Amino acid sequence: MVRTYCQNSHQLKVSTMAAFQLLFPLLVSCVVASASPPRHLPPCQVVQMDAFCSDRSLRGAPVNLPHGVQMLDLSRNQVQKLTQETLANHTGFHRLNLHSNKIHFIQPDLFKDMTDLKVLDLSRNHLNVYALSKISIGRLTAVESLDLSSNGLYTGMSDYFLADSPSLANLSLSGNSITKIAQNTFSGASSLKKISLHNNVILEIEDGAFESLHHLTELDLSKNSIACITDFNLYNLKVLNLSKNSIELFQSRQSAHPYNLLYLDLSENKMPYFPFLPSANMLEYLDVSRNRLQSINVSGSHEERRKVMLHNLRYLDMSYNQLKSTPESFFSCLVSLEVLNVSNNCIDSFSITFEGLLPKVKIINLSDNSLQSLTFGENNLQSLEQLFLQGNRLTTLDHQVFQRLPSIRYLYLQQNNLKICNLEQKEYEPVLTDRNQQDPPGCVFFSSVCNLHFLYLSENNLQTLPANAFANTPLELLDLSLNPGLDMDRDSLSGLEDSLVHLLLRENNISRLNTDLSSLRSLRHVDLSTNQLTSLPMWNKQFSIESLNLQNNKLVTLEYRTMLALEHSLKTLYMGSNPLNCCSNLGFFHLVQRSAVDIPDIGTVTCVHEDFSEPVNIKKLTEAMCHRSGTSGYITIVVLVLLAVMIVSGLLVKCCQSRKRKRNRSFNA
Ligand SMILES: *[C@@H]1O[C@H](CO)[C@@H](O)[C@H](O)[C@H]1NC(C)=O
Ligand SMILES: *[C@@H]1O[C@H](CO)[C@@H](O)[C@H](O)[C@H]1NC(C)=O
Ligand SMILES: *[C@@H]1O[C@H](CO)[C@@H](O)[C@H](O)[C@H]1NC(C)=O
Ligand SMILES: *[C@@H]1O[C@H](CO)[C@@H](O)[C@H](O)[C@H]1NC(C)=O
Ligand SMILES: *[C@@H]1O[C@H](CO)[C@@H](O)[C@H](O)[C@H]1NC(C)=O
Repeated sequence: MVRTYCQNSHQLKVSTMAAFQLLFPLLVSCVVASASPPRHLPPCQVVQMDAFCSDRSLRGAPVNLPHGVQMLDLSRNQVQKLTQETLANHTGFHRLNLHSNKIHFIQPDLFKDMTDLKVLDLSRNHLNVYALSKISIGRLTAVESLDLSSNGLYTGMSDYFLADSPSLANLSLSGNSITKIAQNTFSGASSLKKISLHNNVILEIEDGAFESLHHLTELDLSKNSIACITDFNLYNLKVLNLSKNSIELFQSRQSAHPYNLLYLDLSENKMPYFPFLPSANMLEYLDVSRNRLQSINVSGSHEERRKVMLHNLRYLDMSYNQLKSTPESFFSCLVSLEVLNVSNNCIDSFSITFEGLLPKVKIINLSDNSLQSLTFGENNLQSLEQLFLQGNRLTTLDHQVFQRLPSIRYLYLQQNNLKICNLEQKEYEPVLTDRNQQDPPGCVFFSSVCNLHFLYLSENNLQTLPANAFANTPLELLDLSLNPGLDMDRDSLSGLEDSLVHLLLRENNISRLNTDLSSLRSLRHVDLSTNQLTSLPMWNKQFSIESLNLQNNKLVTLEYRTMLALEHSLKTLYMGSNPLNCCSNLGFFHLVQRSAVDIPDIGTVTCVHEDFSEPVNIKKLTEAMCHRSGTSGYITIVVLVLLAVMIVSGLLVKCCQSRKRKRNRSFNA
């Protein structure tokens, strides 16, 4: 039930039982209230026991808050002093939201008797001013969640708010200016489970600052200025975020004590070495992206190098580093790994050859390296579904490298230099190993990759696409864009009749499509933009193309029959930047006008008309512009009449002559 509750009404005593009786005077008072003061603010809204008074320029809670209100939202108002009066002398709140006010004073012990108050949000106020008075706000008897973020607090100031907060579990101090966490900072809040210190300028954490917090499981220290973590020993911590600091060294205490840490985010730091992780760990998620790792050794010297045991690790991000290689031995303990991101490094060779390595990995991201070789042995990477290899320098690959990946579904190979092997027509079914040796070096097979559905091969300088290139590979999407001059065999796409849904042939400088698209029964989305096409591929009514991009080609006349065949399924058509002829495409233009096809680039769809120097936008084209009456019409008629006269007179002359001749002949005879 929603009750609207008015600020200025005195007669109201809201109780849950008298809801109906209340409704009438309430509405009346609303009307009265809105009629009287010139600058009237909308009343708070009361929904059940929650009062919503946000954003109303209030300096305090309305005096006539309903009895028993449990939640008060006074956020985004003008509260400066937080006292009993500002809260209309209520003490039964469960939740108080005061964020984005101008609070610079809190009445000491205000919260002491609020034994139900669990959530207190004081973020975005001026509590630094209050802290200067060096008076504690007193006991936070029941508060479990306290938000003090963005209050301009600096080192030591949090003490005046936390000194006596026995129930506090969740604390945010983010967006302040704290430079140091002292040993006793949290000593008055020993139940803390979760602390956020995100976005401060922490340079120093005193020994023991967090150790006494036995329930602490989540600690966010991201976006600070921490340079070094030595002797990490928070055994109960589950989540530690150290992202966006200046960390050069992360070292755990060497001990047999098990750590509960599950998530460790060390991204965007300055680590030259792999973090020195606890040996007894349960780590599942490790992000060391955007650091300065040059190798996966834990330190520079070889003596100290030790094997990191990461049996539970499921996610490892080492992207944006300076890794030159990833030794196979490193992967041997990663038996649970599902995602490996080593993109944007300097890796030139990647191989997984030992049997059974990375048995659970689903995603490997090797994009933007300088890979020249890629080797997978048998019975490895049995679960690999997505392989990102774009932006490398791959030219020569083992011919059958992708056939060894039984689960591969997505293959991203754009921006490489691959060639596709030619299968001889007769033998394309089983790919025989002895034949591979005969193939010219430097090509790779995409046939018989039995789970591959998505293949991206744009920007590979592909010259030719041989017949049956994808036979026995159930491709749903094929991107061959940006391979200018690509010569596609007539049968290059055969085998994809029932699977191919998306075909991308953008920017290929194709002038004539000699591949037969009309056999691709499942095709729905075709991109042929930025080519040199002068005619449309042939399609008939059996096809259900849904989106077609023909932008920026050389199309003059569209075959009306093809357009009609497309009409029943086509939803989106891009047509702009073609030299269409106005009067020979009237059928198409009508089709556009009457059908539900969406033409997002219709503003650039123009046609050429001899009467106009500039191309005409097809929205402005009318039939009359092509079936011209007036002088030109007359000329046509005159010409036609003249022609008829000439033909008739010609016939007459002939007739006379032949009669003459007949007469002559008879005369001669
Ligand atoms: C902890 O407090 C933050 C900020 O007030 C809030 O976003 C988060 O939901 C709270 N978490 C828990 C578990 O109460
Ligand atoms: C760590 O903090 C950063 C910055 O606030 C955030 O983007 C990232 O998602 C956090 N990491 C985890 C694992 O929560
Ligand atoms: C691969 O990694 C790069 C950079 O690390 C990232 O931008 C890209 O989104 C990743 N790919 C996927 C599919 O996650
Ligand atoms: C690394 O790749 C993973 C999976 O592809 C992705 O989720 C993550 O965002 C990437 N990391 C970066 C820094 O882009
Ligand atoms: C595109 O093809 C034309 C011939 O049809 C050729 O003259 C031109 O050089 C080609 N452009 C590119 C970038 O391959």
